[in-house]
Amino acid sequence: MHLETALVHTRDELGAARGAMGGSVAAVMTMGALHDGHRALLRAARERADHVITTVFVNPLQFGPNEDFDRYPRTLDADLAICAEAGVDLVFAPDRAEMYPSGEPMVRVNPGPLGERLEGASRPGFFHGVLTVVLKLLQVTRPDLAFFGEKDYQQLTLVRRMVRDLDVPVEIVGVPTVREPDGLALSSRNRYLAPAERQAALTLSAALRAGVEAAAQGRDAEAAARASFDSGTAGGAGLAKLDYLVLTDPDLGPAPARGPGRLLVAAWVGSTRLIDNAAVEVAPAT
Ligand code: PAJ
Repeated sequence: MHLETALVHTRDELGAARGAMGGSVAAVMTMGALHDGHRALLRAARERADHVITTVFVNPLQFGPNEDFDRYPRTLDADLAICAEAGVDLVFAPDRAEMYPSGEPMVRVNPGPLGERLEGASRPGFFHGVLTVVLKLLQVTRPDLAFFGEKDYQQLTLVRRMVRDLDVPVEIVGVPTVREPDGLALSSRNRYLAPAERQAALTLSAALRAGVEAAAQGRDAEAAARASFDSGTAGGAGLAKLDYLVLTDPDLGPAPARGPGRLLVAAWVGSTRLIDNAAVEVAPAT
């Protein structure tokens, strides 16, 4: 149990603290506003490594001009308390100038065609921004392991692909999605939801469950999930607007005829964009 969690804001301080760490190091990258989903990552990291570094940085590069960069929750004191409780050794919370001293970087990581689909189709440049900051944070924290949530499945897939394609010496570990008891995936953005919207947000996880069940029975997972979404039986019908609902293989390639797959959904609930996904096992059509 680490009773002391050090907080640093500069690369120099981070470098000194990182250099003093013996044994294995795990990194957990976040934008703060930590919740039980992040806690699961911290716990998994704590179990696998001698030291845990958490980064807290709301990365302007991955927000579009009309997105929620300014209103994104910033709760550093509460985040520090959670990190201390989880046994995190070091929190790196740089400001924008520390991360991007020359302004917006001229050179960025290109996520390739997968970065243009799904989230990338609705949020142009999003994965360029994500992969660029993830690579930078890997360079400055130099972890042996880095933990990412399955909640952001396309992000996890692209980070895995980046470290493979660009020979980054780190092991990427995926952590299952943490949900509220009623199925809603935990997200820092859930706090934007008004009570009726919170109810409508259940439409996403309910649709995934319908799809998972249909797939296991040899029925069309995508169609079943869409029907569930459209019926709005989870509540708040009309408040949730579907962006995409897609069945893919586990690497986000074309949907499998049978075997493991992934069902991914994105929807607007009021002015909040939510995403969720689930593993499916596609049984042969009956
Ligand atoms: P953020 O949304 O803060 O998420 C940080 C990490 O927590 C990500 O790996 C995300 O997948 C994971 N996470 C969030 N909610 C989760 C849940 N309900 N269950 C399990 N894991 C969950 O993702 C980002 O920040 C940023 O894009 C970042 C990678 C930090 C780059 O800026």
